[in-house]
Amino acid sequence: EVKIVGNKSVQELALNSENLPPNNYIYNEGGVGFRDALLPSESDFQVPIIDIANLTLPSTAQHELLKLQSALHSCGFFLVINHGMTSSFLDKVREVSKQFFELPKEEKQKYAREPNNVEGYGNDTIYSENQRLDWCDRLFLKVHPEDQRNFKFWPLNPIDFRAMAKLLNLEEDCFLKECGERGTMSMRTNYYPPCPMADHALGLKPHSDSSSITFLLQDNKVEGLQVLKDNQWFKVPIIHDAIVINVGDLMEIMSNGIFQSPIHRAVVNEEKARLSVAMLCRPDSEKEIQPIDKLVNESRPLSYRPVKDYCTKYLQYYQQGKRPIDAFKL
Ligand code: SIN
Ligand code: FE2
Repeated sequence: EVKIVGNKSVQELALNSENLPPNNYIYNEGGVGFRDALLPSESDFQVPIIDIANLTLPSTAQHELLKLQSALHSCGFFLVINHGMTSSFLDKVREVSKQFFELPKEEKQKYAREPNNVEGYGNDTIYSENQRLDWCDRLFLKVHPEDQRNFKFWPLNPIDFRAMAKLLNLEEDCFLKECGERGTMSMRTNYYPPCPMADHALGLKPHSDSSSITFLLQDNKVEGLQVLKDNQWFKVPIIHDAIVINVGDLMEIMSNGIFQSPIHRAVVNEEKARLSVAMLCRPDSEKEIQPIDKLVNESRPLSYRPVKDYCTKYLQYYQQGKRPIDAFKL
């Protein structure tokens, strides 16, 4: 049974390179290209690199924690190396993902998502005629549902949550506890076909993530990820086998705003397709998430309303071009 949802795949649109992208993919503003963000070498700001191995060694842990702290405070975006996932494993993830998008369209449609559901193969849900669409097809899968706490497949997760808790003088498992026993991990594979008007389309519009924390495996050849810091877009460099980690909105809420969820976007390329695989760690959707008690005090008053099933609420705001977390700020 073939299920067709909403709009055409971006991949199909891209096949016809003489045809320009439909209007709802095009941004006309200012005529300034999206791709001219600053490289780390062109400015004082560098996307920080954290060595996970150092975090686990008593002799280097303190120094690396300080680096992590500064990364979290400067932009909530960093790269990690020595995370324990092998090169060949990461290559395999990229390869398998790419193979999926290279399947014939009929084959991919078997996994098409249903309307109003994020899981499966597809792209943006269209809510209105004015909506700008992302030049990107996706495959969204829930990878680790609760029952087995399969954190072993993503070895970074506990270590990172723990390090972040430590920095705030909290019990090391407080974020895990806040997320509930049935926290989820979902994998979103993004495929950005080449785009004939790359300066006027975006692979992924500016957003911060709905997760508590996101792990991102980037394409190893084609760059495209940019992060906003002090009103300037910066390119996130490709570093061999490094994983990008960023704070998501729910971590911002749990930490009562101490860790901020960074705004980022993905730009597209005229000639080359780009792939990325995001692992989104989210709390149990049944659990109400709120700032951790110990992080609320006179000098830092409660800054967010409690929220349940943020992900669903997030999508409604996101697709309307609004920043979802703003709706929960006090
Ligand atoms: C994302 O923001 O989820 C993905 C960004 C990217 O493709 O690099
Ligand atoms: Fe993102």
